[in-house]
Amino acid sequence: MKLKILVGTMTSTADYVAQAIQMDCADLVGEIEVQLMDGLDISVFDEDALYLICSSTYGSGDVPDNARQLYESLDAQPKYLGQVRYGVIALGDRTYQQTFAFGGKKFDERLQGLGAQRIGEIWIHDASEGTMPETEGTAWCREWLAQAVATLSASQAA
Ligand SMILES: Cc1cc2nc3c(=O)[nH]c(=O)nc-3n(C[C@H](O)[C@H](O)[C@H](O)COP(=O)(O)O)c2cc1C
Repeated sequence: MKLKILVGTMTSTADYVAQAIQMDCADLVGEIEVQLMDGLDISVFDEDALYLICSSTYGSGDVPDNARQLYESLDAQPKYLGQVRYGVIALGDRTYQQTFAFGGKKFDERLQGLGAQRIGEIWIHDASEGTMPETEGTAWCREWLAQAVATLSASQAA
């Protein structure tokens, strides 16, 4: 099975998290690909892969600039994504109380609206806590991946 991590970022934190996961979780899944969201659209979900959205939040609760085209294409070129299984890492900062981690949450909402199925809860990192998102993110991802692989194997066997 392939894990495809789609990265929405402004100042690379989300990319560092994705790369740390790529290095740390290689034993849990056949292949891990990290791809910046730049230039992507909804067709990125055509692949037979497990997806992980890894996105920060900017502006007033917006997705980062490099994620905008992909995010908007989910609205502008909608199609049924019932075959898609995904997880979400949402990076934010709780000092932005009204829009905390909205970047990842917005992707989640739109993907669910198109029939895609999230595995597990959204994992949120709060930059105001001063913890390392790479360390915490990889620890979360190891558990999430184990759950995702078990869920997908069970549904393939059924
Ligand atoms: C100008 C600016 C606006 C931000 N707006 C939000 C926001 O609305 N909500 C939120 O939760 N975090 C917000 N953040 C925090 C970032 O999402 C957070 O620092 C994240 O870890 C950055 O990840 P990145 O380097 O991958 O872009 C903002 C940060 C900056 C610099």
